Amino acid sequence: MKNVDGAGMEKVLLEFPAQCRRALEIASGQHIAGEFNRVLVCGMGGSGIGGDVLKAVPGSRVPVQVVKGYEIPASVDRGTLVMAVSYSGNTEETLSAIRQAGSRGARVVAITSGGELPAMADKIISVPGGFQPRNALGYLFFTLARFLCNSGLADIKDIDFDETVSLLGETGSFNKAGRELAEFMQGRTPVIYTSDSMSAAGYRLKCQINENAKHPAFHHTFPEMCHNELVAFAGMERDSFAVLMLRDEGDHERVRKRMDICKGIFEKSVDVREVWSRGTSFLARIFSLIYLGDWASYHLALLKVVDPTPVEPIERLKKLLL
Ligand code: PA5
Repeated sequence: MKNVDGAGMEKVLLEFPAQCRRALEIASGQHIAGEFNRVLVCGMGGSGIGGDVLKAVPGSRVPVQVVKGYEIPASVDRGTLVMAVSYSGNTEETLSAIRQAGSRGARVVAITSGGELPAMADKIISVPGGFQPRNALGYLFFTLARFLCNSGLADIKDIDFDETVSLLGETGSFNKAGRELAEFMQGRTPVIYTSDSMSAAGYRLKCQINENAKHPAFHHTFPEMCHNELVAFAGMERDSFAVLMLRDEGDHERVRKRMDICKGIFEKSVDVREVWSRGTSFLARIFSLIYLGDWASYHLALLKVVDPTPVEPIERLKKLLL
């Protein structure tokens, strides 16, 4: 097969567990002092997804909100710690949001590899440059999580971080399962379902399929989909769509029952593949789905003979907006 992975995404994926470990080291000993009653994570796309994961992981000591846009909620004030996550440091929505946050007296911590963001922040956590933002999720999420733990705003146990990094270290099995999933999705539009609590893993996979494989994909959550999207299966064609259910033993028992029943309903119209999370802690389980999805989207790109790394339309749009 022709090598289309010109920019070397395979290497980045193989090194992802080491990236997560390095991120924990970068943030170790870094914290912010102060009385905060909430955390607001501002970030877009590959940088914003870390906020979604953080919001899902149990252990936050204060409410966590995620903003993916230009404006912040009216309630943001001096008691809010704003975590501005932008890999490039130049994303205009994120810069706009933190400008507003600063004018409300909120303190801003930047997680970035450079750009304009550092000059606008009260504190900077620098991560290595040279990656596509979505490939730097390890750097962006694990620095964020560890920093908030160090600052007394979250309580994620070391044992959970360790379990997650060592589970991801079973790279070969994620790679192999990802290739199988890509073969299942090939030639069809994946429709991805998760529980609400695993939503970040489903949304990440949808975006990775879009960006790596240059391929459409959709994501919705249980139980909400049972109240709308379920009806659309009457009009789904087997050759056009493929359903991928990302499952987790920790999902609410009624959600698990709904997913079991709906799987039977889906199968009448389309092919369905179920994938179960691995690991004990929630952190390990959600990252097991994320890492599997990253591999699956990479292999789907190879099957389509497209380079998984470049995202030229995103860059072109950013230039047109200057
Ligand atoms: O995957 C991507 O390249 C995008 O989703 C970017 O993450 C997004 O445009 C935001 O850019 P940055 O991560 O540099 O803030």
